[in-house]
Amino acid sequence: RPGKPLVVAIDGPSGSGKSSVSKEVARRLKLAYLDTGAMYRALTWYCLKTGVDLNDGAVVEQAAEDLPLEISTSPNHEYVAVGGVDITEDIREPRISSSVSAIATTMGARNELIRRQRELIDQHHHRMVVEGRDITTVVAPNAEIRMLLTASEEARLRRRGIQLGGTQSKEELAAQVIQRDAKDSTVVNFTRAADGVVTLDSSDLDFEQTVDTALEIVAKVIYGD
Ligand code: DC
Repeated sequence: RPGKPLVVAIDGPSGSGKSSVSKEVARRLKLAYLDTGAMYRALTWYCLKTGVDLNDGAVVEQAAEDLPLEISTSPNHEYVAVGGVDITEDIREPRISSSVSAIATTMGARNELIRRQRELIDQHHHRMVVEGRDITTVVAPNAEIRMLLTASEEARLRRRGIQLGGTQSKEELAAQVIQRDAKDSTVVNFTRAADGVVTLDSSDLDFEQTVDTALEIVAKVIYGD
């Protein structure tokens, strides 16, 4: 259905394979792609860079409004820049991962990023895969497709271990992932599917199987069964 609105909203915890699955779904459906987590990470980078007190909500909100952000909406090209500085790699550093929750729990900053996310969806004529934590519920509750990508704690820890290069101890990894999910879920509940949201449990699926299942969910909604 080229030209018709097709927003695919995908929420889920870290380590569910959300980003790689969302990108591949966007490629296969020829849709734009937005990683909203990267926006929270970019704002965190900016606050650390400019010496903003992460616990001062009003200042963080102001930083969100000022944030000179550029973010790629292509699933084939990862690019995030603030004030012309390429921070694509930097935002994945542990110092960002460990501070991002403080930003993500600031409601004023969230509202500003949500506003920008909706603007980007509009700019792409509502043909976009959007992934995050609150996309199915807050950013795009009217999306044509709403999906919660989950995975058991065991599967998520396993994938994190692979992602981080397997140098950290199992206990360290477990503590990190569980702590961050606990912090994140104080703002948005992404652990249970909201009404009308389809749950895709990827615990026992490999990457290809997860993508295929996601595409089946899309096809079912678009064409009926
Ligand atoms: O998916 P990620 O690890 O890149 O997300 C980074 C942080 O941003 C994480 O702490 C959760 C938060 N986040 C959020 O609160 N809402 C979103 N829509 C996306 C991410």
